[in-house]
Amino acid sequence: MSCVLGIETTCDETACAVVEDRRIVRSNVIRTQIDLHEKYGGVVPEIAARAHIEWLNDIVAEAMNKAAVSSKDISGIAVANCPGLVGCLLVGVSAAKALAYAWDKPLVGVNHVHAHLYAGCLIPHASVNMALSSAERLSPSLPALGLVISGGHTTLFEVKTFNCFRRLGSTIDDAVGEAFDKVAAILQLGYPGGPLVEKLAQSGHADAVTFPLSLLGKQSLDFSFSGLKTAVLYHVNGQRGTQRTCADLTGQQRADTAAAFERTVGEILEIKVRRAMEMISPKSLIVGGGVSANRSIRGRLQSLADAGGMPLFLPAMEYCTDNAAMIAGLGAELLEQGYKADLDLSAIATA
Ligand code: KG4
Ligand code: ZN
Repeated sequence: MSCVLGIETTCDETACAVVEDRRIVRSNVIRTQIDLHEKYGGVVPEIAARAHIEWLNDIVAEAMNKAAVSSKDISGIAVANCPGLVGCLLVGVSAAKALAYAWDKPLVGVNHVHAHLYAGCLIPHASVNMALSSAERLSPSLPALGLVISGGHTTLFEVKTFNCFRRLGSTIDDAVGEAFDKVAAILQLGYPGGPLVEKLAQSGHADAVTFPLSLLGKQSLDFSFSGLKTAVLYHVNGQRGTQRTCADLTGQQRADTAAAFERTVGEILEIKVRRAMEMISPKSLIVGGGVSANRSIRGRLQSLADAGGMPLFLPAMEYCTDNAAMIAGLGAELLEQGYKADLDLSAIATA
């Protein structure tokens, strides 16, 4: 048994997980800080870092207990050291270094965005026998096309190996999850908005409203969602100068707006993924990040992969949003390839 302990503190989730043999999640503990930041309307970096300091020791102990392992069962420590809020990253990196030193284990730094693409390879411990019976689920054939759709990132990668990612395109303004959160705010739904927009969209008619598809030119693999967000704002609140708000819309109109927004996002993602597939002819498609929890987007991507005869790796629901299992899993993969960090490993805000 080879177990890697993973630590995730890049933003507003304090998380620790134990992953066995690179893929099998023995524990995955996540404590969210949503209630600490809610009243400020966004994550306050100083508050987030302090909460990580207060909570991390308990979260690590809980992850070890749930996995039923002790330090002697751990073969390495993985930590998300980029990108993220630097004060938050420093908490996880310092804790990981302390554990690696105290337990005399190898340490490895993991890129949080790349780890979102590893989430589709993870198998919950409870369903390990079922997953093992379909061997092709275990590892994506490479090179793969990777799409990260999260609150902070919207990026297409060519995944050559799990240590070699070539960026093909990225958002030039808002990330797709950020657009979901802003549309949720316009529709006065609350935070985080993605799941709330998805729920409302289920009772809406996507055809009732048409929003513009921003594709940035025929060959571009970049994304832009700020125009779409503004189009939703004007649709709900009226053009500048009008006094309308979301409260003036009927429930059905709100649901139609959510459905049309969700469909537009889905169409943009589908067009860009299809373009990238034509460009690099990947052997598989891997998707990760919080927005990959959206059922209509999952369905679109599945149809696209099926049409191209390509296996699709989507994370189980619990591994879509930020978690430490994806950090431990990718960390285990890197350690196996011989990567190891020294105790001067840095926290890097941008990557
Ligand atoms: O990956 P993640 O947990 O954090 C980042 O690394 O950014 O992604 C969080 C984002 C939020 O913007 C949230 O609204 C969005 O993922 N999200 C969703 C859904 N669940 C979470 N967006 C659309 N539909 C969902 N079901
Ligand atoms: Zn993330």
